[in-house]
Amino acid sequence: MNKLSPSMLSIDFGNIEENIKKVKDAGADYIHVDVMDGSFVPNISFGPPVIEYVKKAAGDMPLDVHLMIDRPERYIDAFKKCGADILTIHYESTEDVHETIRLIREAGMKVGLSIKPATPVSVLKDYISEVDMILIMSVEPGFGGQSFMDVAYDKLRETKALVMDTGVSCDIEVDGGVSLQNLESILEAGANVIVAGSAIFKNDIAKNVKDFRSIMK
Ligand code: DX5
Ligand code: ZN
Repeated sequence: MNKLSPSMLSIDFGNIEENIKKVKDAGADYIHVDVMDGSFVPNISFGPPVIEYVKKAAGDMPLDVHLMIDRPERYIDAFKKCGADILTIHYESTEDVHETIRLIREAGMKVGLSIKPATPVSVLKDYISEVDMILIMSVEPGFGGQSFMDVAYDKLRETKALVMDTGVSCDIEVDGGVSLQNLESILEAGANVIVAGSAIFKNDIAKNVKDFRSIMK
């Protein structure tokens, strides 16, 4: 089933509660929470205290937390405590991916594994049976509002093939530059969890969510 995960990197931070309620009421499935440390990516966003507040506003809508931080294994419990439901780490961010996956699972969260645009899908083979979701980055992580990189289409197709070949039930999420214009091709390529920030949190938020949903079915 297709899921929509609006990225709060593009939210109006003066009205977090109101805007989360808007996407929730309009039919969003998750709220995508981008954590950046200024080291793994050249930008800093926010951490657990803000997420705790977002969790309250989101209620029963799961938090899809995307960690763009070095050595995420240091903070697994902190993200569990502040309310993460799905915790996604980057393949490139830690020396021990297996152990970090194990720690997330042990803490009671769903596990996501992400690769940057330059990282080949083949690296996922070793982990595919241990995770609930693969996140294919379709922009260089760090900023909202960038253009979708076409290399992601092939990577989504390859990931889908890997999931089918392995026989696992694993979601395929895409993040970066998704819009109403490219959404259909992205779904066709194999994504079933759609992250969108700037395309959702502009103008009429509820209408944007509904427009996305009408294409996603
Ligand atoms: C980028 C973040 C994305 C970002 C997407 O590093 O991971 O989640 O918010 O923003 P848009 O949809 O505007 O490209
Ligand atoms: Zn993200």
